[in-house]
Amino acid sequence: MAFRNIDTGIHNLQHKQIFKQVLPNFPNGASCPFGRERDTSCFLAGDERVNQQPVIAAIHMIFSRFHNLVAGELSAGNPRMSDEMVFQEARKVVIAAYQIIVYQEFLPGLLGPSVLDSELYRDAGLQLNDFEHFDHYEPETDPHVLNEFVAAGFRLHTLVSDIIPRLKSVIGLAEATALSSQYNNHSLLYEDGSADVIINGLLEEPALAFDPQISVELQGRLFRGQELPVGLDLLAISVQRGRDHGLGTYNDVREACGYGRARTFEGLGDFIPEKNIFLLRSLYRSVEDIVSGSLSRHGSELKILTLITCSQDLIVGGLLEDTVREDASVGSTFACLIATEFRTKRFSDRFWHERSHQFSQSQLNYLRRIKMSQIVCLTTGIRHVAAQSFLVVSDNNPLVPCSSAKEFNLEEFFTIPGL
Ligand code: HEM
Repeated sequence: MAFRNIDTGIHNLQHKQIFKQVLPNFPNGASCPFGRERDTSCFLAGDERVNQQPVIAAIHMIFSRFHNLVAGELSAGNPRMSDEMVFQEARKVVIAAYQIIVYQEFLPGLLGPSVLDSELYRDAGLQLNDFEHFDHYEPETDPHVLNEFVAAGFRLHTLVSDIIPRLKSVIGLAEATALSSQYNNHSLLYEDGSADVIINGLLEEPALAFDPQISVELQGRLFRGQELPVGLDLLAISVQRGRDHGLGTYNDVREACGYGRARTFEGLGDFIPEKNIFLLRSLYRSVEDIVSGSLSRHGSELKILTLITCSQDLIVGGLLEDTVREDASVGSTFACLIATEFRTKRFSDRFWHERSHQFSQSQLNYLRRIKMSQIVCLTTGIRHVAAQSFLVVSDNNPLVPCSSAKEFNLEEFFTIPGL
């Protein structure tokens, strides 16, 4: 089955009703390492990693449903629009909504909600414009993903929970399914409404703390299954990947971020707490060894924490830091890499949604009001959401009925010139 239905501009999602749509199956089970049966087959999407575990597939699913919702409304309002145009315009709206959610909700959730009131966010170029278009395009800025970002700073596996939470009711205790039982396994998602149950669970489940601990489900049980009875260690893979990529060292990145090189172990104290410096000191000859290899001692110390055996690497130095602010989920060095990468995305993209040739002023103002909670309400059967989806439910972030989320109305988009 093709991902796109080439005569309606919509994604071909196996069901006419938005709430029930699941992604298409991988054609003929080709390159699909598991589940070739009709009801468990892996999914087709833009990136084959959609099949890694059901949470990532559920998130793909709601954005695909959103595409179909937008395409349907565009098409109904503009009967003369060609299939290609409906598809491209819907794609443009979904990308814009995604960019807005990432910069206005996800990044502040990660860097700490208080970052939104700080000059830092604006100075870093991450604060989207309130009213005007944003036409600051830097053709000389290299849009490639920064190696240190993708192979270390954004590998935030320490935040990943060891369970897939599934919540059927408005609120209550989520049913917990071990992550390691769900690698490359989509049987949960073929049940009616099951993407909704996972999304509902995610809305309630806090992320794990930013620290050097990583869930056993990822460390030792990654991809555990019939063909891999023991499972892999994701942190060990990430350390190795950093070396494969020839990443800059922890000290190099500190320096590039303007924090200065640490010349002594004590010099790490601005970001790394004493207890973690103690661990590093017990394993390394000098502070530069942390960043350029060569473990000083072998033997019993290496058993203290598996992690420490790898601590000459950027990812380990970064994970040993305190969080950049109390409400953040990353340390200073990773925050710098994340801010740098997301600045690049905004400034080096000629088709970034805030450019004046992309949307009219009124379309843009309309899009700017979109929130993740609204996408959830529009694409699932969930009827209550926290207004700020990336933060846990609390007195400051209570559950609100989906009916109070603003109606999605594409009238602004119906007036496309020439139609
Ligand atoms: C259940 C949750 C997750 C699992 C099982 C998982 C697993 C993996 C695996 C197996 C890799 C490939 C490692 C390699 O071969 O180098 C990977 C890469 C990566 N992961 Fe995760 N991950 C999860 C969640 C996350 C989250 C929440 C983030 C960030 C917010 C993240 C960020 C990354 C990044 C940036 C890469 C590198 C991608 C690339 O090189 O293209 N992952 N992950």
